[in-house]
Amino acid sequence: MLKITILYGAIREGRLSIRAARAIDKALRDSGKADVTFIDVKDYDLPLMENRLKDMKDPLPDVVKVGKMIEDADGLIFVTPEYNNSYSGPLKNTVDYYTKEWGKKPIGIVCGSNGKQGGINASNLLQLLVLAIGAFPMPRKLLVPELDKSLDEEGKPLNETMANNLDKFVKEYLWFAEAIVNQKKKDQ
Ligand SMILES: Cc1cc2nc3c(=O)[nH]c(=O)nc-3n(C[C@H](O)[C@H](O)[C@H](O)COP(=O)(O)O)c2cc1C
Repeated sequence: MLKITILYGAIREGRLSIRAARAIDKALRDSGKADVTFIDVKDYDLPLMENRLKDMKDPLPDVVKVGKMIEDADGLIFVTPEYNNSYSGPLKNTVDYYTKEWGKKPIGIVCGSNGKQGGINASNLLQLLVLAIGAFPMPRKLLVPELDKSLDEEGKPLNETMANNLDKFVKEYLWFAEAIVNQKKKDQ
C-alpha cells in the first residue's frame, strides 16, 4: 500500500474546493492501493511562517505534527482553489515551513474554481512550486471547473467528464507514485 497524504489548503467559510479534496480522498481509498491521510490546513495551528521548521528553536506542536505527516508519506496530493490566478495562501504558507520532508516525493495537483477554467493558472504555478521544493510534479493534473456543478458536497462527480477525469488522474497518480517509490527502494 502506498501512503498518500492529501494536503488541502483552503480555509474560507463555505469553501467549495473541499469537494475536490473529498473526491480525491474517496477515489484513492476506493482504489484499494493507498492508505490515505488528510491534512486540512484549517484543522492545524500553522501561523504565518517566519522560519522554516528546521530553523525553529521551539516549534508549535502542529508544525511538527504536519511535518511528520509529510515526511511519512510516500507521496502527496495538493488540493487548492484558484485565488487571483494562483494557489491559496494557506497552502503556500504550509509548504514553506518544510524542506527535506518534501524530498523527491511524487506530487499530484488538484485545482478547482467556480469558473469554467478549473484553476488552470493555479495548477501551472503549483507545478513550479513543487519543483522548487525538490519534489516531482505529475504532468497530468486534475482541474475541477464549476465546483458546485461538477461535484456534490461529498465529492461525488455530477457528470461523466468529471468522473472520467477523476478516474484517469487517480490511476495515473498511483502509477507515478509507485514508480518513484520503487526506484527509491532500489536505491536503499
Ligand atoms: C480571493 C479570491 C480570489 C479568487 N480568484 C479567482 C481566480 O483568479 N480565478 C477563478 O477562477 N476563481 C477565483 N475565485 C473564485 C473561486 O474559484 C471560488 O471561490 C471557488 O468556489 C473556489 O474557492 P473556495 O474553495 O474558496 O470556494 C476567487 C475567490 C476568492 C475568494
